Amino acid sequence: MSGALCPGSFDPVTMGHVNVFERVAAQFDTVVVTVVANPNKKGMFGIDERIALIEEATAHLPNLRVASWEGLLVDFARQESLTAIVKGLRGMVDYDYEEQMANLNRAMTGVETLFMPAEPRLSFVSSSYVKEIAVRGGDVSGWVPPNVLTALRERIGAPAADS
Ligand code: PNS
Repeated sequence: MSGALCPGSFDPVTMGHVNVFERVAAQFDTVVVTVVANPNKKGMFGIDERIALIEEATAHLPNLRVASWEGLLVDFARQESLTAIVKGLRGMVDYDYEEQMANLNRAMTGVETLFMPAEPRLSFVSSSYVKEIAVRGGDVSGWVPPNVLTALRERIGAPAADS
C-alpha cells in the first residue's frame, strides 16, 4: 500500500489545495492531509475548523482522510507508515522554500518529498491572499470551495452574495 502525506497550514483550504489532493489521491492508495499548527501564528480558523472544512471539500475522495499534527512532520509520516510527503508547487519561489524542507526531512528519516506542479489556472491562489481579499470585500468565490466561502463570510461578517 502506498500512502502520501499532504501537509500544510490550510488556513483555509483553497481550490489549489483541493486540486492537488485530487491528483495525489489518483496516484496513491491512501492520502492523509495533515493540518500543522504554526505556534507563532494565530490563524483565521482554528485547527478543528480547518479539518472540518477540508473534510467537507474532499468528501468525494474516499481514499483521503484529514488529521492534525503538532510535532515534526517526519515523525507523523513514520507513525502512519506514509511513504512520501507530497507538496504542490506554484513556482520557483515555492520551490526555493520547499527544497530546504524536503532535504532536511530526508536527512532526518529518509522520507522523500514529491512535488506536484500547481494547475496553471490556480497557480496564483494562496490562503493568505484569499483571506486578504475576502477581508477587504473582494470576491474569492472562484478560488475556494463553496463551504470555505460560506465560512469566510461568516468569519468576516460579510453578507452572503445571494441574500
Ligand atoms: O502551508 P505551509 O504553512 O506552507 O506549511 C508548512 C508546513 C506546515 C508543511 C511546515 O511548516 C512543516 O512541515 N511543519 C511541521 C514541523 C516540521 O516538521 N518542521 C521541520 C521542517 S524541515
